[in-house]
Amino acid sequence: MTTSAPATTIAASPSAPSGGGSLPASRLFVAGAGIMGAGIAAQAALVGWEVDLYDVQQSFLDRGLGAVRKDFERLARKGKLTAEQGALAGKRVRGTLSLDAAGEASVVMEAAPERLELKRELFQKLDKVCRPEALLGTNTSSLSVTAIAATVKDPGRMVGIHFFNPVLAMELVEVIPGFRTRETEVARAKAFARALGKTVTSSKDAPGFVTTRAMAVLANEAIWMLHDGVATREDIDTAHKLGFHHPMGPLELADLVGLDTMLSVLERLYTGFRDPKYRACPLLVSMVEAGLFGRKSGEGFYRYDVPRPGGTSTS
Ligand SMILES: NC(=O)c1ccc[n+]([C@@H]2O[C@H](COP(=O)([O-])OP(=O)(O)OC[C@H]3O[C@@H](n4cnc5c(N)ncnc54)[C@H](O)[C@@H]3O)[C@@H](O)[C@H]2O)c1
Repeated sequence: MTTSAPATTIAASPSAPSGGGSLPASRLFVAGAGIMGAGIAAQAALVGWEVDLYDVQQSFLDRGLGAVRKDFERLARKGKLTAEQGALAGKRVRGTLSLDAAGEASVVMEAAPERLELKRELFQKLDKVCRPEALLGTNTSSLSVTAIAATVKDPGRMVGIHFFNPVLAMELVEVIPGFRTRETEVARAKAFARALGKTVTSSKDAPGFVTTRAMAVLANEAIWMLHDGVATREDIDTAHKLGFHHPMGPLELADLVGLDTMLSVLERLYTGFRDPKYRACPLLVSMVEAGLFGRKSGEGFYRYDVPRPGGTSTS
């Protein structure tokens, strides 16, 4: 991991209308400073991008910026980054409570809570400030990219750019074109993900794409097993780790993802496919109603001393 490499240029689409004047080649705007937004901001800053990280409240922003800082400190402790490189990368991430900086970005990434109406409203606002040649990416893990894109004037420039958690550690980015996404913008989205050091796969705009669809079913099934008393949480997780070589158990994974996000995803799969196999376990529903969102709130299937960033009241 290095901060000295020059930032990669993500050329504006030749078919995109010009907004007059050229955009800085590697300036990113990230909307949502939670688990994923903070991670995407950190990853981009590490490879030399200038990043504006947006959230709706100062406390959420502070938590996201704190997570970015901690990411860099962790890399420095592991010897993957010098303190100087960490400081340099840290300076590249600026927090903001205004959407205005999106007007300077060549790539705008949305990492807001997994709710269709919220994402659509956010993109309606972003559409007013973003330059026409900016690439619009949504980090949704399950929602229809097509439905999110339908809210902006030029849906051809919207792409699902699905990063994984934790962003710095996970290699994959799933790229999902919406119904009206232009090929040129798909190519830009892939170039963007690769510039951030990721490996890209392509998926169709089906509920949950490839990864979330499979992960949600496994996690939900594990929660059903806990609900039915088939095994303890520890035994369910240990069985998956030692029996299948999974790096973490499905209940640990659900806590990492966020139980609120997990529930939103299952609801999307359930309504999207109209298939009862995606019905969320009532235990998950009760835990979300009780405000137990997993690591980000300090408690889920397990307790955590240090909550991770992420919305609590807004998720
Ligand atoms: N958590 C994961 O493991 C994971 C993995 C891949 C993709 N995703 C997807 O990434 C997106 C973000 O998930 P997350 O886990 O980071 O959620 P999160 O709850 O950790 O963070 C969401 C952030 O968005 C902010 N927010 C709320 N309303 C907003 C608005 N109107 N505009 C901008 N920001 C707003 C919240 O304050 C919060 O900080 C979701 O679509 C989710 O499905 C999550």
